[in-house]
Amino acid sequence: MCGIVGYIGNKKSSDIIMSGLKRLEYRGYDSAGISSFEDGIIFTSKCKGKISDLEKLPSIKNHKNYIGIGHTRWATHGEPNETNAHPHHDSNNNFSLIHNGIIENHYSIKEYLINQGVNFKSDTDTEVLVQFISYLYDKKKLSFYETVKLALQEVVGTYGIVVMCKNEPNKLVAAKNGSPLLMGIGKDEKFLASDVSALLDYTRNILYLEDGEIAQIEADSYKINHINHENEIIKDIKEIEFTLDQIEKGHYKHFMLKEIFEQPNAVKDAIRGRINNSNVVKLGGVLDYTDRILNAENIFITACGTSWHAAQIGSYLLEDILKKPVKVEYASEFRYRNKSVNEKSLVIAISQSGETADTLAAVKKAKDKNALTLGIVNVVGSTIARETECGIYMHAGPEIGVASTKAFTIQVVILVLFSNLIAQKLNIKKSKSYLDNLKKVPQLISEILKLSDKIFEISKEFVNATNFLYLGRGYQFPVALEGALKLKEISYIHAEGYPAAEMKHGPIALIDDKMPVVAIVTKNGFDKILSNIQEVKSRGGKIISITTIDSDTLRNISDYYIYLDNCSDIHNAITPLLTSIPLQLLAYHIAVLKGCNVDQPRNLAKSVTVE
Ligand code: G6P
Repeated sequence: MCGIVGYIGNKKSSDIIMSGLKRLEYRGYDSAGISSFEDGIIFTSKCKGKISDLEKLPSIKNHKNYIGIGHTRWATHGEPNETNAHPHHDSNNNFSLIHNGIIENHYSIKEYLINQGVNFKSDTDTEVLVQFISYLYDKKKLSFYETVKLALQEVVGTYGIVVMCKNEPNKLVAAKNGSPLLMGIGKDEKFLASDVSALLDYTRNILYLEDGEIAQIEADSYKINHINHENEIIKDIKEIEFTLDQIEKGHYKHFMLKEIFEQPNAVKDAIRGRINNSNVVKLGGVLDYTDRILNAENIFITACGTSWHAAQIGSYLLEDILKKPVKVEYASEFRYRNKSVNEKSLVIAISQSGETADTLAAVKKAKDKNALTLGIVNVVGSTIARETECGIYMHAGPEIGVASTKAFTIQVVILVLFSNLIAQKLNIKKSKSYLDNLKKVPQLISEILKLSDKIFEISKEFVNATNFLYLGRGYQFPVALEGALKLKEISYIHAEGYPAAEMKHGPIALIDDKMPVVAIVTKNGFDKILSNIQEVKSRGGKIISITTIDSDTLRNISDYYIYLDNCSDIHNAITPLLTSIPLQLLAYHIAVLKGCNVDQPRNLAKSVTVE
């Protein structure tokens, strides 16, 4: 969600912070700000808008010093404007603080502070925290570090914070609870960030803070404790493997397009080493838990957004094999209604970022009930990856575009592998072609990507559309949901996904000659969906068919016909990996033609670390 960067060392902090904030901009981007020590005072510049707007401020050139903090914000409390932008200060400008998360008891703390005569400038929960720290500092006469620790003992909520103090200008204090925060370790310099991508230009040696931990950091040393204990915590420093190339756009116009085109390689990476020549699936991260997985009496899959659509496909895959119900729950619901979860349950959490607050809370609830938790996560070392008992990393590489594309595909790949693993352990015979088909997917996606120009031409017809309907049956129903989500996220066109047959129970009322209907057609249920398309056609709707079956009948009733060659015999359960690609391209081209910012769509953030 919000992006955080801090620096202490021997270089100009504003350069490091600005470059880090740019790398984080995809996480949150309605306002930005930076503080550094200049001539003995805390000097702050902030503005509404993007990092490029911050860079244009005349005051930016006055940030010259070696210690500072910066923030890019996605508004939760208070509208996006300069006053509500971070860093926030106390009234005397003795402290500056950046924050990612939500201070839930900020109303009561604010009321208390107002009664003590403190005046507030902004509408944010963050200002409450920095004013509270300042108030305690004056009252308790403790050190900077002890004061922050004391304040956090009173705070209810989530935070990743970094704080500067005028009276101790050689130190930063950072703390985490529920929002990601990590430290980069350099020689005589230390970095802080909410996401490792902010630090890759400078260091690969990373230390992850855990919930409840607080660190005092100087250029050449650091010390970590828990906010409620005195003992020092010694942590391992991890080396990050992915490279800068992976988080840069290269020759692509947008990250989203780059990530769409990365899918053939991403699929290869995700299956590499996981299927042997005899088609036996091996997933190291769940190996020790096989018995508990196979004996689970009930299975839940929980996730948010695009990951929830992958979860839907996962439930079809697992039900096909296990012949028992697999429930898919939005994490935001699951965390509050999980009455049937117990020690015999398997709870699978799917998350690209591994930081989504609701999914994390769902995992914690499942653990409280002694269920086995399994994470399908992309970001290595992320909170959900660490919280779940076992898991399967996606190996999709970094995904920067807010609208998820390759992460969705890879989540489905992992679910295909996982369901096959279960089938093999249960000695359930799956047709040999199943995994052979999966191995063909990279090549087939490469072929489908060649349709991009054709889809661009079709997209021109729909730039002024205000609504879209996406229809699919069976495995193509979650694909329809995901296609509709992609379009609304980046083009702001209202779109709905429906099971094709369900259309006549309501949505058909919407069909007229202005309603484009995307029909996803494979060999399973071919005749049935053809009838559903006829129902649309006879009411004047515009049909865009995406099909693995080359059929004259379908071609003739379609206004636009997108045929995916060589895919007709691919196993039904694998087809979502193919049919979702043209839907990503359709959404992308329409959004670009409309002039939308596809990588940073309005109001959205890549990783939602608040409830
Ligand atoms: C946000 C993003 C979506 C993403 C969802 C879940 O809403 O904008 O693209 O699907 O979070 O994210 P996760 O990282 O948990 O998969």
